[in-house]
Amino acid sequence: MIISYPQIDSTNRVAKELAAEGKPSGTVVVAASQIAGRGQYGRSFNSPEGGLYFSLLLEPVIPTEKLPLITLATGLACRNVLHQSFNLQPLIKWPNDIYLGGKKTAGILCENIFLPHSPSNRKQVIIGVGINVNNRKEDFAAEVQPIITTLFEHLQVTVELEPLLALLLQAITTNVTRLLDESQLLLDEWQQYDLLFNKPVVHATEALIIHGIGKGISPQGLYVIQDEHGVEQRVIGGQLRPQG
Ligand code: BTN
Repeated sequence: MIISYPQIDSTNRVAKELAAEGKPSGTVVVAASQIAGRGQYGRSFNSPEGGLYFSLLLEPVIPTEKLPLITLATGLACRNVLHQSFNLQPLIKWPNDIYLGGKKTAGILCENIFLPHSPSNRKQVIIGVGINVNNRKEDFAAEVQPIITTLFEHLQVTVELEPLLALLLQAITTNVTRLLDESQLLLDEWQQYDLLFNKPVVHATEALIIHGIGKGISPQGLYVIQDEHGVEQRVIGGQLRPQG
């Protein structure tokens, strides 16, 4: 079931509400624009009309320790669809941003739903994806304009959103299913598109800042940084960005 809105606060918020009402795995919420789009780390996600904003409710049959890999599986699926559909060469910035020509064109926010009274193997996740598609730079808040790009900027044609959504839903669902018994293969594939591999990076949490060189993802989906002392640090959470 796909539920569409011309405008909503956040498709992730609506999808969570629908999950609580008992809507089945595969339910999708899509909006032409969002007025309170949510990003990682509690940030907002600028969602002007022309982009594709959706949330997919899934009940994946995977072990709990693999749940963090869903973000990576989704990023890879989005990267592959953009490549196959438009012959673009997107890269992925760990854990969840899609970049074109060094600028962000899509973000992913996966939120796990805790089901306290369900059998332990039952898990739900909201996979939220926002892609700058037909928007123009001027549609975005001034402070993000220098760091984002849109598909239009690269293709100079308007893209139909509905078929793109169908391809993305198919690719995401397939990749999440692959996590059950092909997760290492999937991570190896992800690694080919790592924006920060062998690049100077900074990783920041409230407690610690690490400067180093990006060394790719670990089998658990953590990001590996070789720090200034040559020691490999594995990071989870926090913010990873190119240095400079
Ligand atoms: C990020 O870049 O930090 C993640 C952005 C995720 C944005 C998408 S848009 C659809 C869905 N609904 C939201 O409120 N957020 C996600």
